[in-house]
Amino acid sequence: MLLSFAPMEGVTNAEYRRVHRRFFPEADRYYAPFIAPDAGGRFKRSHLNALLPEANEGVTLVPQILANNAEAFLGAAETLAELGYTEVNLNAGCPSGTVVSKHKGAGMLGDAAELDAFLKEVFRRTPVAVSVKTRLGLHSTADFPTLLAVYRRYPLSELIVHARDREGMYQSKPDRAAFAAALEDAPWPVCYNGNVFTAGDLASLRRDFPALDRVMLGRGAVTNPALFRVLSGGEPLRREELRAFHDALLDEALQGGLPPVYALARMKEIWYYMIWLFPDSAKLCKALNKSRDLSAYRDAVSALFAQAAFDPAARFQGSLA
Ligand SMILES: Cc1cc2nc3c(=O)[nH]c(=O)nc-3n(C[C@H](O)[C@H](O)[C@H](O)COP(=O)(O)O)c2cc1C
Repeated sequence: MLLSFAPMEGVTNAEYRRVHRRFFPEADRYYAPFIAPDAGGRFKRSHLNALLPEANEGVTLVPQILANNAEAFLGAAETLAELGYTEVNLNAGCPSGTVVSKHKGAGMLGDAAELDAFLKEVFRRTPVAVSVKTRLGLHSTADFPTLLAVYRRYPLSELIVHARDREGMYQSKPDRAAFAAALEDAPWPVCYNGNVFTAGDLASLRRDFPALDRVMLGRGAVTNPALFRVLSGGEPLRREELRAFHDALLDEALQGGLPPVYALARMKEIWYYMIWLFPDSAKLCKALNKSRDLSAYRDAVSALFAQAAFDPAARFQGSLA
């Protein structure tokens, strides 16, 4: 089973990926959060820096592009090819209102003919392999067969399917029945994504789809960074290991020159997920969230690790239906 780490903007940035790789090397590959090029294919310097090979040492990384204009996509792909990447991923799943209203991300799924025209131009000229991360549809998962018919016209290096429509955001129950169509005579590798949080979730997915050999993990892996190891039959996460991982993440952020207030904000974002491993820790968690400086934050983290119960088998439960 090939297990990949999902792109998560604001979470799985270059520092996170490097530290995760160092502590938990079992993920087969990482997908970078999207870059959004302008019409000429240029994108932010900070996004470029996060994709430089030296910022991702030891990490097998696939960059992701959010664009609905072939020139923009190809311009960015060209820059990424120059950096040494041999594959890029198209974001056809971002559900954010501002993205969808511009017919980007999941907004690309509303018009199959436009999607087809975009892919036609991209595959005519791309300097690198192109994979797609798609949802099942814009307004309905019933759109998926039409979208699949479009994807099947092109030599994708992989189709990653987040098994929800855009309306489902990150909450609806993944629609496994609709996802099944992706696997039927698929001309390219298919990767399943959506709510795989525990070994039990993976086992049930395998029962439903014995031929499935690729799964992408997002929130479950940020909650439990050892999830790749656990799903590969390895040891459960240990409390001290999580502490060391946490400390290394904070150090990496600070050493990278991030002002402490930003480093704290970043760490709190990660705690939104990791906190599920500490059941009944509401009070300690509140202190952590309220901390305004590094010293208060470090004290709150130490109290949490020292006093709260720890359940390495706990699952992510935030914003779920
Ligand atoms: C905070 C956050 C940021 C995300 N950023 C991206 C992104 O940049 N690109 C993308 O394709 N998906 C993004 N996603 C979606 C995830 O990659 C994944 O498809 C989704 O969380 C479902 O998988 P999961 O149930 O394993 O978390 C994001 C999700 C979250 C919660």
